[in-house]
Amino acid sequence: MPPFALTSDLLTGIPTVDEQHGDLLDIANEVVAAADGRLHPDLFDLALSFLVGYTTYHFAAEETVMAKVAYPGHGHHAQVHDRLREQVVAILFRVRNQGPTQQSKSDVMRLLEDWVVLHVRESDREFAHFVRDQHIDVATLILPTVESLKTCGAIDLDFDERFATGVAGLRSAQR
Ligand SMILES: [Fe+2]
Ligand SMILES: [Fe+2]
Repeated sequence: MPPFALTSDLLTGIPTVDEQHGDLLDIANEVVAAADGRLHPDLFDLALSFLVGYTTYHFAAEETVMAKVAYPGHGHHAQVHDRLREQVVAILFRVRNQGPTQQSKSDVMRLLEDWVVLHVRESDREFAHFVRDQHIDVATLILPTVESLKTCGAIDLDFDERFATGVAGLRSAQR
């Protein structure tokens, strides 16, 4: 059984956001699988790159939707994303230097549980409460494409678009 799953306590009720969270957790499972030392270090590195890349894309997409609906918690949520991304990157670089080992596997597990899952359960669901309270039609909350995020400066122009294809992109890159 993979360690991470989009359980009901993690659902926001916003289909596009839930879909991305599911993809994020699928990538997390691939990272954990690659971290236990049985796979080649290159595959571990690839999975980590997709985790960082997809996180960057997801955060930018989520923040754009928050701005669009004038979510009052948008600024604070974006700050939390920034901190979270810095921590994810820092820990992943450390883990990357260690290579795929039992230690790196448990470091990644702890990081994902403490930060990513907790953030979805608490902060993203807080945004979802706002959406419901404002009677915003969730079907209208379409997450922006990489191209439009680049155009508005929400992500860097050199962002590798493959990362935004999520776990499907990772699996095809693993082959
Ligand atoms: Fe999120
Ligand atoms: Fe978030």
